Amino acid sequence: MTDAPAALIEAVRQVLPQVRADLESLVRIPSVSADPGAAAELEHSARAVADLARGVGFTDVSILSAAGGAPAVVARIPAPPGQPTVLLYAHHDVQPTGPVGAWQSPPFEPTERDGRLYGRGAADDKAGVAAHLAVVRAFQGKPPIGVTLFIEGEEEVGSPTLAAFIAEYDDLLTADAIVLADSTNLAVGHPALTTTLRGLADCVVEVRTLDHAVHSGMFGGPVPDALTVLTRLLATLHDTDGSVAVNGVVGTVAAAEVDYPEDRLRAESGLLDGVQLIGDGPIAERMWSKPAISVLAIDAPTVADAANILVPVARAKLSLRVPPGADAEACLAALQAHLVAHVDWGAHIEISDTHVGEPGVIDATGPVYDAARAAFAAAWGVDPVDIGVGGSIPFVAAFAGAFPAASILVTGVEDPDTRAHGANESLHLGEFEKVCVAETLLVAKLAH
Ligand code: BES
Ligand code: MN
Ligand code: MN
Repeated sequence: MTDAPAALIEAVRQVLPQVRADLESLVRIPSVSADPGAAAELEHSARAVADLARGVGFTDVSILSAAGGAPAVVARIPAPPGQPTVLLYAHHDVQPTGPVGAWQSPPFEPTERDGRLYGRGAADDKAGVAAHLAVVRAFQGKPPIGVTLFIEGEEEVGSPTLAAFIAEYDDLLTADAIVLADSTNLAVGHPALTTTLRGLADCVVEVRTLDHAVHSGMFGGPVPDALTVLTRLLATLHDTDGSVAVNGVVGTVAAAEVDYPEDRLRAESGLLDGVQLIGDGPIAERMWSKPAISVLAIDAPTVADAANILVPVARAKLSLRVPPGADAEACLAALQAHLVAHVDWGAHIEISDTHVGEPGVIDATGPVYDAARAAFAAAWGVDPVDIGVGGSIPFVAAFAGAFPAASILVTGVEDPDTRAHGANESLHLGEFEKVCVAETLLVAKLAH
C-alpha cells in the first residue's frame, strides 16, 4: 500500500460501498440508550460493532463496560515499532425517535433520498463509527500506525460511567492522538475542527400551590394555580430581548471567529417568518460561547384533558447550555438559586433530576493539528475552519483530563441539515466520503 494521497483517496472510494453497508447494518439496530427496555438492543449493537471491527482487521476486540454502564467496544491494531497510536472514538447509542409519524421513512430503516441517508443514528453517531471502520478498511487492516477503536454506548445519556471506564481501561486506551468523531462541519463543503463546546446543566423544577385540585370558578381569584406560577417562573429565565437572565452563568472563552449570517441561521433552523432571533451579539457567539436556556418539557394537564380546576402541581424540564470556560456545577447552582429566588407567591418549589456535563475548550495547535488541517484541506479542497458548537460532548473534558499528553481532535460527520435527535435525521453522503478520506489521510500523516 502506498500512502500517496491520490492512492489513499482511491482506496477509500473503493471501500465506501462496504462502509455504507456497515453503516446501514448499524442503523437497523434501535440502540436507544435512554430506553431501559432497549438494553438488549444496546448489547446487539455493541456486538455488531465488535463483529465489524474484527471483520476490518482489528485484532484485540472486546466488549467492555464499567460497573452499571452500557456496553462499549474497544478494539486495537497495535502500532508497528516506533509508530504512534491514534484512538478513534464514536458512540453506537442513539436518541429516541420521537413520534414515528413525523418520519418520512421508518427511523431504523436506512433510506437514501437526494444524496442523504436517513435514519436514527445515520449521522449521530453511527456514521462516526463507520468513518473509523472506513479508515482501517482503506488500509486493508494494516494502518501505518497503531489504531485503537473506542465506541461508547451511553453518550446520549451523558456518558455516566465514562470517567470510570477510562480509569479502569486506561492502558487499553492510551494514545498519542485522539479523534472524537461526534461533532459537525460548518456546512456542506466547509470542513471544520471543533475547538469549543458548551456544557450542560439540566434540572426538573416542580411547583406546588395546593394540596389537591379544586373548582377553578369557586376558588380562582385568591387561590393561585401551580401552572400559572410555573409559567411566570419560566418567564424570568430570559430578559425581554431573550438573553439568559440568570446571574452567575458566564463563560470566559470567546467564540471562534466565524461569520454566521442571519439568513443562513434562519434557513438552517427552520425559523418561521417574522419570528425574531433572541439574545445579542454576533450569532456565532450566541450559539457557541454564550449560555442558552430552553424549556424542554412541561408536565401539566393536556388541553384534551383540561377541566375547570386549579392545577395543584406542575413541572418543567430545563436545559441550560453552559458556556465554554464556565464551571457546569456552578452554573447549575446559579440556576437553582435563580429558580428559588424567583418563584412567586410563596409556592412550594422542588428541584430534582439535576445533571451536568462540562463544557470543552481544546488546544487546537501542534503537529497533530497541522496534520489534520492538511488532511481536511486535501479531502475537501477547502481549508478547514475552527468552530465552536453549541451542543455538548461532556466526555471531551474527561479525555482531556485523563490523557493530558494526547492531542484531541473533535471532528464529525454532521452538517446543519442533519437534524440529529429530531425526526428525519440524515447523513450527507458526499460529506461522509470526505470525512472518511480526511481521517484516512490524517492517519497516514501521523506515521513517522
Ligand atoms: N453529537 C452530539 C453533540 C453535538 C451536537 C455535536 C451538535 C455537534 C453539534 C452528542 O451526541 C449529543 O447529542 N450530546 C448531547 C449531550 C448529552 C449529555 C446528552 C447534547 O448536546 O444534547
Ligand atoms: Mn453524538
Ligand atoms: Mn446526540
